[in-house]
Amino acid sequence: MKVLVIGNGGREHTLAWCLAQSPKVHSITCIPGNGGTANLKKCRNLALGVTDFEGIERFATVNNVGLMVVGPEVPLAAGFADYFLDRGFQVFGPRQAGAQIESSKAWAKALMQEAGIPTAKAEVLTAAADAKAYVSVQGAPIVVKADGLAAGKGVTVAQTVEEAHQAIDEAFGGRFGSAGDCVVVEECLQGQEASVLAITDGLTIRPLVPAQDHKAVGEGDTGANTGGMGAYAPTPVVSEVMLERIQAEVLEPAIATLRNRDIDYCGVLYAGLMITPEGDPKVIEFNCRFGDPETQVVLPLLETPLESLLLACVQQKLAAHPPIEWKEGAAACVVLASGGYPDTYKKGFPITGIGAAEATGAMVFHAGTRLGKQGIVTDGGRVLGVTALGDTFGEAIAQAYAAVDLISFEAMYCRRDIGFRVLGQS
Ligand code: AMP
Ligand code: GLY
Repeated sequence: MKVLVIGNGGREHTLAWCLAQSPKVHSITCIPGNGGTANLKKCRNLALGVTDFEGIERFATVNNVGLMVVGPEVPLAAGFADYFLDRGFQVFGPRQAGAQIESSKAWAKALMQEAGIPTAKAEVLTAAADAKAYVSVQGAPIVVKADGLAAGKGVTVAQTVEEAHQAIDEAFGGRFGSAGDCVVVEECLQGQEASVLAITDGLTIRPLVPAQDHKAVGEGDTGANTGGMGAYAPTPVVSEVMLERIQAEVLEPAIATLRNRDIDYCGVLYAGLMITPEGDPKVIEFNCRFGDPETQVVLPLLETPLESLLLACVQQKLAAHPPIEWKEGAAACVVLASGGYPDTYKKGFPITGIGAAEATGAMVFHAGTRLGKQGIVTDGGRVLGVTALGDTFGEAIAQAYAAVDLISFEAMYCRRDIGFRVLGQS
């Protein structure tokens, strides 16, 4: 089978790497891919835009592509799955209607309320004055979210009413384009965050191992929010009992409610959760895709061939698929970023030591890299994700940092405390 992977991040390199291990996958084309997918066995890059549907269709038709796997939310929200499903291709990723679960926070909140899914109390507001008045009544801390896609930058956890008012002004002032024409203002939840990525064919939904991301740029979870500076799995924040509750209280009702709305949802439903001090799971957000960098710790633990799971989803046969099998132990991923990220940073610096890092047994997943004439160079904010496995969290984390220390590029930055909450736990 020939497979297309859409996207160019660490998540897509990990998806391609995982798919390439299956003997049933003959070749993978990454659109547009990065320096890692350019060098991966069985894989090549094709320089097309992720929403160039006609260009992708020409390639897929000539090359008889059997499966398309969409990494990022942007092409899904733009109707990627609709375009290709309607032309007879097999696509792993929801149609535009289902992708609203990520592309509109107001839509997602309404779905959660209809489904009875536990989440923060919220109000959807379409005018700045109304949003500010609501915040003044509720008080701080309070969370202001731009409704639409804002590349992870649309959420402000405001500690004061003034800060919330400023976030509202920025959203309605056009900081996120039309994504900020409507805001969701919600209760600030306390607790520990976890990411549960689940795969679904629209009828059956099965969780993958739960992971924990580290969203803040600074150690001890301080500083600006980023796409994610590192992750580990399986996180003990989500115990087996908790995962059963999440299945029953979050995942099943979400899929049932989507079905009630005549939405065939095939792909990943990613639940960003807060496990409250009372021990209850509450949904912070849903995403319609694999998480990044969560994928870099979840897929290396997967024993079952990924292609067989994705095909079971696209063919609506997930209920009949054998249970998902996992490796024993833990995985940790440390993201190496360009100095300055998530604000401004420079690109184009040569990267050394990737081979040495891989020789330790670690997996180096490329995110913002490209293959230049002189080798691999930096090409984005998050540059590499270094993943290691171990029998314990301590071992996985130590192995990941041992590999990190062999890699260098100008102004390289990483958090040194990935997994700090589980260090010492097996
Ligand atoms: P989101 O883009 O919705 O995942 O939000 C980004 C981050 O903001 C989350 O990972 C949380 O750390 C934080 N956040 C979002 N909503 C809430 C909430 N209701 N209470 C507390 N923190 C939140
Ligand atoms: N790591 C957070 C996300 O993928 O949205």
